[in-house]
Amino acid sequence: MRSPIEDYLQEVLAGTEDGGEVASYIPELAQADPERLAAALCTADGTVYAAGDTAARFSIQSMSKPFAYALALEEHGIDRVLQKVGVEPSGDSFNSASLDPSDQRPDNPMINIGAIATHALILPEGSRDERDERVRLGLSAFAGRELAVEEAVYASEIETAFRNLSLAYLVRSADGFGQDPHEIVEGYTRQCALSVDVRDLAVMAMTLAAGGVNPVTTKRVVSAEVAQQVLSVMTMCGMYDAAGDWMTHVGIPAKSGVSGGVIGGLPGQVGLSVFSPRLDRVGHSVRGVQVFERFSREMGMHLLTSPPLSVDAVRSITRTETDRGQQRSFALQGPLRFSSAEQVLRQFERVTPGDFPVALDLSRVTSFDPVARRMVLEGLRRLREDGHPILLADPKGVLPEPDLGDGSLPERLDA
Ligand code: DON
Repeated sequence: MRSPIEDYLQEVLAGTEDGGEVASYIPELAQADPERLAAALCTADGTVYAAGDTAARFSIQSMSKPFAYALALEEHGIDRVLQKVGVEPSGDSFNSASLDPSDQRPDNPMINIGAIATHALILPEGSRDERDERVRLGLSAFAGRELAVEEAVYASEIETAFRNLSLAYLVRSADGFGQDPHEIVEGYTRQCALSVDVRDLAVMAMTLAAGGVNPVTTKRVVSAEVAQQVLSVMTMCGMYDAAGDWMTHVGIPAKSGVSGGVIGGLPGQVGLSVFSPRLDRVGHSVRGVQVFERFSREMGMHLLTSPPLSVDAVRSITRTETDRGQQRSFALQGPLRFSSAEQVLRQFERVTPGDFPVALDLSRVTSFDPVARRMVLEGLRRLREDGHPILLADPKGVLPEPDLGDGSLPERLDA
């Protein structure tokens, strides 16, 4: 069978209507073929589906910002980076010249002024070349292949980077960084000129959505905590002054770039990317926005859509006569997290004290998150305190180290 997913991507691309203008403030971008159109989707196991002009290469531009932010967070920790760059939506355009009046920090790392300050945080003591290389290799680790700078785009943007230079001087004047503002703008512009295709971008987005592990190379690029911080900031600030509109309509943490790309990462599910150079007035790809709107609507990808409620964590409760009295057996199912573990505890509460055994069958449980694991083990510990011997069937080993508090383990039914 041929997977219908690429056909679906093709159909979504074909259903878009173009409009807007190619970015012209970077002269080289004005040369882009405005008809180009491509999309890619990367899954949690690293499968990449792509459609359209998938071979088209373009500069990453502002879509580099979340990844450079991730590198800065990984290098310094979240608190130190927060001292230099905030996480508040600015409500302003991507190149606005504003610092928070109370603490002189850029509002967030997704607008140019915050991205310039963030770039300066990467290897702050290093030379420009060392910093450039750190950024290039860091973004390459997200993509799973070595990326290179598109020199023509760099040369073209740096010649007219007056606005970004003024932003860098503004941050420098407020002690936002200690390096030469020219050097930082050069490095930031090289960061924006890294060349990618839609497949690279989908893998990069999925790396964030997979808690920092590249699903293709299976290498950890940043910590889960950093990946979560980056996706949070993308959710609130990634789409600039259209962030509210985007979050309500599309609901996927995202970032756009003036080259015409949009990336999005839905935690635990997919990394998405679209490329189409014509932009709307906010600077987002016109067809890119339409594709994301359709993905969200048709593939149920809004982050805040309520997931199926975990109402059936306890599949059955049975009683069997044993020589130790009437044993209660609880068969659980599904992925266990707080809400499902709470149901289990509620059933445990109904077990009266006594010395009859309590058995737990986990053969239909797919996973325990750390909270559910603690909750269920605490429930078992309390049942044992009430006098019950605890029996456990866990053929897949979904509940590692089922220590009941004092180093003792339940009796295994599957041993
Ligand atoms: O700094 C700039 O203006 C560009 N290198 C990147 C801006 C950008 O991609 C804005 N996004 N939509």
